[in-house]
Amino acid sequence: MTPGSLFTRTPHPNPATPERVAEVLAKPGFGQHFTDHMVTVSWNTEQGWHDATVRPYQTLELDPAAMVLHYGQAIFEGLKAYRHADGSIASFRPEANAERFRASARRLAMPELPDELFLGSLRELLAVDGRWVPTQQEESLYLRPFMISTEKGLGVRPAKEYLYTLIASPAGSYFSGGLKPVSVWLCTEYVRAAPGGTGAAKCAGNYAASLQAQAQAAAQGCDQVVWLDAVERHWVEEMGGMNLFFVLGSGAGAKVVTPELSGALLPGITRDSLLRLASDLGYAVEERKISTEEWEKKAETGELTEVFACGTAAVITPVGSAKHAGGEFAIGGGQAGEVTMKLRETLTGLQRGVVADKHGWMVPL
Ligand code: PLP
Ligand code: COI
Repeated sequence: MTPGSLFTRTPHPNPATPERVAEVLAKPGFGQHFTDHMVTVSWNTEQGWHDATVRPYQTLELDPAAMVLHYGQAIFEGLKAYRHADGSIASFRPEANAERFRASARRLAMPELPDELFLGSLRELLAVDGRWVPTQQEESLYLRPFMISTEKGLGVRPAKEYLYTLIASPAGSYFSGGLKPVSVWLCTEYVRAAPGGTGAAKCAGNYAASLQAQAQAAAQGCDQVVWLDAVERHWVEEMGGMNLFFVLGSGAGAKVVTPELSGALLPGITRDSLLRLASDLGYAVEERKISTEEWEKKAETGELTEVFACGTAAVITPVGSAKHAGGEFAIGGGQAGEVTMKLRETLTGLQRGVVADKHGWMVPL
């Protein structure tokens, strides 16, 4: 073990050359390239959490009967490390990710990773792979903590063995069009999550269940799916990997509205932060139900001026148009709106260390 650390470090014998790192950072894309190391921590019923290790990035070995491969106990998180102008590295509200990771674990009957190990894994990985954090604005190192059940066996019950792993990937823009507004498909055929289901957990199965609808959206010429509630197929919930915000009115009198947390949508950390930042900027904010009818009607009358999606990977992405089985409509002329851009500048400025962090959200890594 490293003195004073909970983690054992096994450095990579053959890390990427500085030239290779520079080449990746020049055009990182999203989720394509990974840093030299990863962190793993094991859990079983006898020992609890043990063997916290920083090791070379490598394949995981799993028994074909590992329970995750059959019954899907798999959860993950997503957060970013940002390079500040003075060279230091910080992440945005990582304690919130640690807490949501524990909530997801509870919902999937998995053991809760103590925050000390979650946050420690981030610090440990950055200590060895800090050179992979991009310096350019709009870029960051995307951190992907995840946990799977590894016990061998086909009985349907919570596993007795798990593996927590942290990997990291330099990230540019999530959408290839950058800030170009996306088009969305209001999906009534499929649902992402039902009341009492796993919608509020960040579990792998939610994403598998979304892929068919995403393909349907693409076939309709849309970039993304908007999920509606499972019962009435009427209330807007969220997008595939993002929460949604609606702007009513304009200028200083604008009101910023987001669907209330119903238990079926993911409680986004960006969503929560934007509610506070919007209020700081003087906008009225509201968490409530929003129907597809309200969306379409108010977009047509002009009362609804902007819509945007938000999340760690997507940051803030304008929504320019929406389509459903009965037709399509544009929002605010299909351009990124003023409130959207103001919130985006405030959030990204804070993350880059150029806007005052009055909520104490940035945590040095
Ligand atoms: N909704 C879903 C389904 C997501 O996967 C994500 C991404 O993590 C979000 C919303 C946004 O959450 P956050 O802002 O915490 O990244
Ligand atoms: C994130 O924003 O971190 C996510 O997990 C979304 C994912 C679908 C890329």
